[in-house]
Amino acid sequence: MPKNKTLERFKKLKKEISRARENYFNKNKSDITDQEYDRLIDEYRNLLVADPSLSSTDELTNQVGAFPQSKFKKVKHRSPMYSLSNGFSNDDILVFLKQVKSFLDLPENEKIALVFEPKIDGLSLALTYQNGMLVQALTRGDGIVGEDVLNNARLIPDIPEKILYDFDILEVKGEVYLTNSKFRDLNAEQEKNGAKIFSNPRNVASGTIRQFKTNVQRNEKLSFFAYSVGQSTNEMPSTQFELLTELGRLGFKTNPLSKLFYDPIELFKYYEKIFSERALLDYDIDGIVYKINDFNFQKRLGFRSASPRWAIAHKFPSELSITKINDIEIQIGRTGALSPVAKLEPVNVGGVIVSSATLHNRDFIRGVDNKGNFIRSGADIRVGDWVTIYRAGDVIPKIENVDLLKRSKNSVPYVFPTICPSCGEKVSVDGSDSTVRCPAFNKCEAQIIAQLKHFVSKKALNIDGLGERIVEVFLKIGLVTEPADFFKLKNKLSNLSDIENILGKGWGKKSVDKLLSSIEARRVVKFDKFLFALGIRHIGETVSNILAKYYEDWEQFEIDVFEIIEKKSVSSSLSQIEGIGPLMVNSLVEYFKNEKAIIKVRNLLKQIEITNIKTKQNLSSAVTNIKLVFTGTFKNASRAEMKEIAEKNGAKVLTSLSGSVEVLVVGEGPGSKLKKASDLGIKIVSEEEFLSLVSVGNKDQV
Ligand code: IVH
Repeated sequence: MPKNKTLERFKKLKKEISRARENYFNKNKSDITDQEYDRLIDEYRNLLVADPSLSSTDELTNQVGAFPQSKFKKVKHRSPMYSLSNGFSNDDILVFLKQVKSFLDLPENEKIALVFEPKIDGLSLALTYQNGMLVQALTRGDGIVGEDVLNNARLIPDIPEKILYDFDILEVKGEVYLTNSKFRDLNAEQEKNGAKIFSNPRNVASGTIRQFKTNVQRNEKLSFFAYSVGQSTNEMPSTQFELLTELGRLGFKTNPLSKLFYDPIELFKYYEKIFSERALLDYDIDGIVYKINDFNFQKRLGFRSASPRWAIAHKFPSELSITKINDIEIQIGRTGALSPVAKLEPVNVGGVIVSSATLHNRDFIRGVDNKGNFIRSGADIRVGDWVTIYRAGDVIPKIENVDLLKRSKNSVPYVFPTICPSCGEKVSVDGSDSTVRCPAFNKCEAQIIAQLKHFVSKKALNIDGLGERIVEVFLKIGLVTEPADFFKLKNKLSNLSDIENILGKGWGKKSVDKLLSSIEARRVVKFDKFLFALGIRHIGETVSNILAKYYEDWEQFEIDVFEIIEKKSVSSSLSQIEGIGPLMVNSLVEYFKNEKAIIKVRNLLKQIEITNIKTKQNLSSAVTNIKLVFTGTFKNASRAEMKEIAEKNGAKVLTSLSGSVEVLVVGEGPGSKLKKASDLGIKIVSEEEFLSLVSVGNKDQV
């Protein structure tokens, strides 16, 4: 369909859906059948998938009581679907290899086998075979729970209905994709029929497999490459490369370009070759995945929160596009940072329409980095400039360079604000970095809005239906001024007479009830989510998780923070936890020193309860809740592995000795810590003793 026709159709659908919703949610009547409503929604979503630029005019997706939940059955994955960390240069990959070797305690010059696999730009699927028959096909979902799209998946020719050997259970993971030739044929056919033109093969593959009403012909066009095995009741090979061969024997397609390497130089040569020849492939790849070949190593390396330590994606350089800066806006973050954003003439970058890009900070605009070195050879950035844009890691658009030849003679350098554009407070520049900050943490409206939005956002309290716009409305009409107020909305909203007028179109009793029940569902939250939701500087998700794991109990955490504040020293356990640096400790101290912040937290704690995070620990272990420190080098495992073993068994690992430490685990060459521990009367345990204490089932106390 031509672009303007698509937009017309999109707008018409939006109107029809809004009207149907309005009738259903607020007037309790329905003038179309459920099937007709679902059809409208399907078409609306498909248009959005096919043409992402429409999302700028999409107001429906995030509305309360928005699209009905998908009709596919939601099922927990047998093993989580992880994502991959990214590297963008050979150096990034060498750093990855160095970290792997250091974790495994291997010499730096040791050759370690890596499997090279093209990273297919499709969508991942986890297939379960029971007694050799395909019984489930789950999309990735959030990595923990996916949707069972079995009926669609079984139509894909590369996905065998039956595998050659009998397994009680075999879980195979891989990537569904559409070949470029089939994509072109499909679009030619669409054009002939006057139907919509799809923007890329990935969106077609994803739309097809996730369409509830199966489109047989389209599913039959899809392809599948298998790349790993999750759960298996039969013995599997001991390396990734052999596993690929085994998957082939079982009846799966695996990528023929996969290859085993021992030498990074050879690996990079092959990367360059595949990169330069990728246009000849009949499917899109957006990088190469490198996996440590040996499963024993993989097992030892384990996972960070969302990605394995044993694999990395070597991404291809992003596409560049040229466009013009129409304006520079300043956004104020939840910690008061003034972030400049370039408003761009909309431009297509690698299939996505981009209309703004980050300008990072004041120095980036001036053309210097935070050490005072030139970037872009010192060229500054101005309103009206022509710039090259790329999407970093395919997410946030960034500016690569500025074209000085195209700069207008009348252009003037951008003047960075010296007062906060929101509250008028004089801004200040942070010591080492180039961040300009508004200091009015608890007064500046922009900061308060950003803090409230952060509090309810997906990664924090994840309150469904509390979109950014509605948070702003609540603040504007005085219903919410601090996080605790969200939990008092029940009474306040029931007193409002004309909800729709105040909150905006689409807000009726039903949508308000739905929102209130999402809020109620968050009266009990995990420690890490709660801490992260406070939006304290330097206290991101990972740090919140480390602190939650260490303390488990919020009260104890506060006691330690206040101990530092009162004693004005940093001798409490808090400053000795592995992974918690002085910057983070300072930031916590600064936050909890502030009377208003404390009141905010107290008010919140009157409304919600914090639960401990469940660690994957063996609770009956002999070191559970024991504070310990490692020193020296170990024979059986690296220091990082020892730490992981200890934490899995519930120990609290600290970096330095103090009165509160109970055990020192000593390897070879322990240094001064050994003497200090015996002076302090701390129990000293050898590597072997420690490992036997944590071996499964050992409940002897240290
Ligand atoms: S391995 C734990 N191998 O890339 C390892 N992933 O960001 C995770 N992908 O969601 C997956 N080709 O959809 C792996 N040969 C390959 C892959 C591949 C494509 C996708 C997959 C995953 C994403 C990871």
